[in-house]
Amino acid sequence: MASPAIAVVYYSGSGHTKVLADAVVSAAASTGATSALLRVDELTEESWNFIDEADAIIFGAPTYMGTAPSAFHAFAEKTAGRWGVQKWHNKLGAGFTNAACKAGDKNSTLDYFATFGAQHGMNWVNLGLLPGWKSTKGTENDLNRFGYFNGAAAQTFSDVGVEGVHPADIATAAHLGRRVAEITAVFAAGKAALENRTSENHTSERELITAGA
Ligand SMILES: Cc1cc2nc3c(=O)[nH]c(=O)nc-3n(C[C@H](O)[C@H](O)[C@H](O)COP(=O)(O)O)c2cc1C
Repeated sequence: MASPAIAVVYYSGSGHTKVLADAVVSAAASTGATSALLRVDELTEESWNFIDEADAIIFGAPTYMGTAPSAFHAFAEKTAGRWGVQKWHNKLGAGFTNAACKAGDKNSTLDYFATFGAQHGMNWVNLGLLPGWKSTKGTENDLNRFGYFNGAAAQTFSDVGVEGVHPADIATAAHLGRRVAEITAVFAAGKAALENRTSENHTSERELITAGA
């Protein structure tokens, strides 16, 4: 069976979210998935084809003014034709974001990604991690250190470069990439098994008809 294809579609202004996007795509690839990292404002015809054919799409962007940046919204609006024919129906989806503040309204961006996926009829994959850093025994190095469920959420100080992206956030993003790829593989295998069963049923129906039953 072909390996599942995962498109990581992202935007990053100063590079922080790109570090997370790199972690998501590498972790997905480490499971054997065919994965591609595609920037929303640099999509070519080939990139759009990859997204359309992918089994899963993971959306990522920093939080700007309490939502995804305008470049991501421009990309989303370009998908209206695909929405009209539900071209992405039943693909799996997930999201990640990054912001300067510990909270910073990141939840709005993750919710927006999930709503965007729902409009396209996609099946949303959550982060699948218990919250970290929630008791005196926790530390800022815990996975899912900000306790999100609907996706991966990171915090990077506004006055640092890409080296300032927190290792716990990179590991949380990698967890999301791996999780989506693993669930997508199960989903694709199930679909293939069902299609196989349906074609076997058709074959035995044909055999019965041929045998005159
Ligand atoms: C226009 C603009 C709006 C922003 N709005 C928010 C915000 O709502 N909440 C927040 O915590 N940080 C906000 N930030 C900070 C960015 O989310 C943060 O610097 C992030 O690390 C940038 O990621 P990037 O390098 O991938 O663009 C904003 C930054 C910009 C430029």
